[in-house]
Amino acid sequence: MEVSASGLTVRFGALAALNHVDLEVAAGERRAVIGPNGAGKTTLLNAIAGELRPTEGSIRLGGRDATRLPAWRRARLGLGRTFQRSTLFSRLTVAENVALAVRARDRKGWRFWPLRDRPLEDEVARRLAAGGIAHLADRQAARLGHGERRILEVELALAASPSALLLDEPMAGLSGDERRTTLERLGALPDDVTVVIVEHDLDAVFALAKRITVLDHGVKIADGTPTEVRANARVQEVYLGAI
Ligand SMILES: Nc1ncnc2c1ncn2[C@@H]1O[C@H](COP(=O)(O)OP(=O)(O)OP(=O)(O)O)[C@@H](O)[C@H]1O
Ligand SMILES: [Mg+2]
Repeated sequence: MEVSASGLTVRFGALAALNHVDLEVAAGERRAVIGPNGAGKTTLLNAIAGELRPTEGSIRLGGRDATRLPAWRRARLGLGRTFQRSTLFSRLTVAENVALAVRARDRKGWRFWPLRDRPLEDEVARRLAAGGIAHLADRQAARLGHGERRILEVELALAASPSALLLDEPMAGLSGDERRTTLERLGALPDDVTVVIVEHDLDAVFALAKRITVLDHGVKIADGTPTEVRANARVQEVYLGAI
């Protein structure tokens, strides 16, 4: 599903967290959004997902004007996301969290959940194995380590079978092994799934994305291939040079 924003502006009082930002992400594209802390990256994802109403500008999803749609309608259109901060059912186990996400995707609710549901159990097991967290299936989410939580969050987003996926710093705090598994997992998504990834881990960004958008103080300062972005003097000055 194509994701696009046009003239997107989000003001918090006097601060323009986003200032007339244009973004065109084609269906199946893997796009990274980078920039220093406070650049507006999370705000951009929130506005696209419908968590936040933009002050100005419009959002299109799959060619359809989504600017006024609430977040749950955008999710129904096939938009999935992860959050920079955790959003798990902390009292449930890892497997139960994934099972709920699968049931939500299939539009099944909490009630009348049969004691055994083999197709569901099989799918949950498959997803946990693919995410490298099969050994954590029966662990209560509240008892997960930081990296384990992030991985589960990515699995929950994937369990919805989104046609476009917004990821907010999925690599933050992961160990080397966890990073590799997550990178592989994201790299192996079906070709038609659109991915917009906000990430400070530039190795991951350069491995995943063919195109990178750079924000600084709410303004888009560059948009191009990894090679172009790396060579961009402005980007080096505000971001790459700082690392
Ligand atoms: N709800 C809010 N109310 C007021 N200001 C906000 C709000 N949300 C974000 N901001 C401000 O908007 C600017 C952009 O924030 P945002 O969280 O989008 O940055 P970011 O690029 O995601 O940063 P980071 O890399 O630290 O996650 C920051 O100056 C932030 O303080
Ligand atoms: Mg952020």
